[in-house]
Amino acid sequence: MKHAITSYLQFLWRSKNQHGVHSPFVYHLVTQCFYDRKRYPEYETLSAVRKELTHDHSTLQVSDLGAGSRVFSSNKRKVSQIAKHVGISKKRQRLLFRLVRYLQPANMLELGTSLGLATTAMSLGKPAASVISIEGCEETAQRANALFETYGLEGIRLYTQAFESFFKEHPIATYDLVYVDGHHSKEHTLQYFEWLLPHVHEHSVLLFDDIYWSAEMTEAWKQICANERVTVSIDTFQWGFVFFRSEQKKQHFVIRL
Ligand SMILES: C[S@@+](CC[C@H](N)C(=O)[O-])C[C@H]1O[C@@H](n2cnc3c(N)ncnc32)[C@H](O)[C@@H]1O
Repeated sequence: MKHAITSYLQFLWRSKNQHGVHSPFVYHLVTQCFYDRKRYPEYETLSAVRKELTHDHSTLQVSDLGAGSRVFSSNKRKVSQIAKHVGISKKRQRLLFRLVRYLQPANMLELGTSLGLATTAMSLGKPAASVISIEGCEETAQRANALFETYGLEGIRLYTQAFESFFKEHPIATYDLVYVDGHHSKEHTLQYFEWLLPHVHEHSVLLFDDIYWSAEMTEAWKQICANERVTVSIDTFQWGFVFFRSEQKKQHFVIRL
């Protein structure tokens, strides 16, 4: 927690808005997507999905393959509590929707579905796209699948398995956008990045959640930014974005949302 607070103060000091961003690519992303204040009709669906989950008091037996929880002490958890404490926030869910709408990726991947709050935003951002999402916990995945069915999100394919076995079974595919939200540790985050590298191309974007969750996560984030294939990296505090565009010189941005 101390790391997150001190990092946030440093972030406030270093971060900018669109002024002073000299890359046209990043400038447009910031002004037309990050700071887009339009009220999209899809936000209503996102709110309905969130309401459904936060009002569901049924219990799941959770096998948490992630970094554990700072909130839960037991593996029997209410859907409503998972949605509240583990799921993406309302603000980020909308941003993810806008990001997909703006970038128009055809093939997306999410590592860590949980109840499907982020998956829903990805699918609504481009309903014709393919969204593959992976969740290791059987009961959580079942609840997410029920949600996708209720809202007719046909572009989503949920794989109930460990990330590692998914990558072994699907060695060829490439992804235009990947949301990485699994085990929030340095070791695992760097492992996911290694697994993903053969699956990215010139116009892919990888989005890492919780890059200031711990000092170790921030170290992982810095190593990812330093990788020679990464050109543009954007730190928005909770999320880190990396791009592989070869026409762009290597540059790091710190942007306030
Ligand atoms: C933080 S939650 C994902 C939240 C979700 N993306 C959202 O925004 O609502 C992380 C999820 O990843 C799953 N997970 C973590 N490590 C995994 C692994 N190695 N294989 C499969 N699932 C994993 C956990 O079971 C957990 O449900």
